[in-house]
Amino acid sequence: MSKIQIINASNSLKYLDALYELDKDIFNTFWANNQWENELKNESVITFLAVKENKNIGFASAGICANEIEIRKIGILENYRRQKVASFILRKILDMAKAHGILKVFLEVNENNKSAILFYKNKGFITYNIRRGYYEKNENAVCMQKII
Ligand SMILES: CC(C)(COP(=O)(O)OP(=O)(O)OC[C@H]1O[C@@H](n2cnc3c(N)ncnc32)[C@H](O)[C@@H]1OP(=O)(O)O)[C@@H](O)C(=O)NCCC(=O)NCCS
Repeated sequence: MSKIQIINASNSLKYLDALYELDKDIFNTFWANNQWENELKNESVITFLAVKENKNIGFASAGICANEIEIRKIGILENYRRQKVASFILRKILDMAKAHGILKVFLEVNENNKSAILFYKNKGFITYNIRRGYYEKNENAVCMQKII
């Protein structure tokens, strides 16, 4: 298997279009180009881009708030899933978080997103709350966290 490169895309607009395109290809609800611009200019936001053979295949965005970090999105293009790309990116986020003295990682995920819930459980996240009717169509959010 050829090598996957994880690029720290934070605090620069170099990868703005790449991230916008990936987000649009992976998620039904994606951030507008100017929202991505704000994210990338925000010093509290960590963004990673995964590249394989010069192709952008996945990304993650996480926001630091005091001694906690929220994973806002992790997405991998469909053809590249189950190859540990998200695991690789998450490892980078956790390593960077630890280096910032962060103690807790949290996130919320749609209860119908079974693959994401299984992914996070596999990484040691536990459910601490269910937010009823949080998403469109009255779907619940599963709130998960991990102490690092
Ligand atoms: C969730 C997602 C990020 C996982 O990415 P990935 O690169 O395929 O995940 P990995 O290969 O690192 O998976 C690691 C482990 O997580 C679990 N897992 C991941 N996807 C799974 C699935 N579809 N079904 C069951 N378990 C799954 C498995 O335990 C897996 O280990 P294994 O393959 O050895 O069994 C990917 O499915 C995705 O991009 N989904 C669409 C976007 C999304 O919903 N993101 C999450 C909400 S922000």
